[in-house]
Amino acid sequence: MSLDLIIEPLGGSYDRKAFSCGVLALDHYLREQASQDVKRRVSNCFVAADRDVDLIAGYYTLAASSVPIASLPQDLTKRLPRYPVLPAILIGRLAVDTRYQGQRVGSILIVDALRRCAQAAPACFALIVDAKDDKAAAFYRKHGFTPFHDRPLSMFLSVATALKLFD
Ligand SMILES: CC(C)(COP(=O)(O)OP(=O)(O)OC[C@H]1O[C@@H](n2cnc3c(N)ncnc32)[C@H](O)[C@@H]1OP(=O)(O)O)[C@@H](O)C(=O)NCCC(=O)NCCS
Repeated sequence: MSLDLIIEPLGGSYDRKAFSCGVLALDHYLREQASQDVKRRVSNCFVAADRDVDLIAGYYTLAASSVPIASLPQDLTKRLPRYPVLPAILIGRLAVDTRYQGQRVGSILIVDALRRCAQAAPACFALIVDAKDDKAAAFYRKHGFTPFHDRPLSMFLSVATALKLFD
């Protein structure tokens, strides 16, 4: 059966305590910290809600960031102006409830993050993530993210490249 998901900014109506992704720190963040971060304008949080049962199937956070141009491969930057840093948006956290894992919710969240970056008023050259471990890094690699050469768990995805990839 296909899921009836709506992706929207974190609001008050869903039971955050019911969310369980298998990583306590990510469950705890949604329950205790996410709203505060949004209120303090340090991070935005978007949830994929299952409309049939009013559960949060997954969530991710976005915050403004930047990437030193020297940390990107030359084939990507050779036609760019030599600004020392480029604008980026950080996916700080991304998690899918265990009841929804393996049903493409993670992919849907990444595409949604990409769409928001592409449509944001300030330009964004790349989406970046700090994968929490090798498994998470494998998930991001699958979605086109490339590790920075000096930090294998920190990864980037050029927004222009990704828009072509996910078109
Ligand atoms: C990692 C996580 C977000 C994946 O979400 P998901 O909804 O189960 O993943 P999807 O169903 O969207 O998977 C999409 C594709 O990624 C692949 N994939 C999923 N998890 C993967 C992993 N750990 N390693 C490699 N590939 C993975 C799937 O096989 C699928 O590939 P396909 O297109 O060939 O079928 C989810 O398992 C999760 O929340 N885990 C706990 C928290 C976590 O590790 N977060 C990572 C951010 S630090």
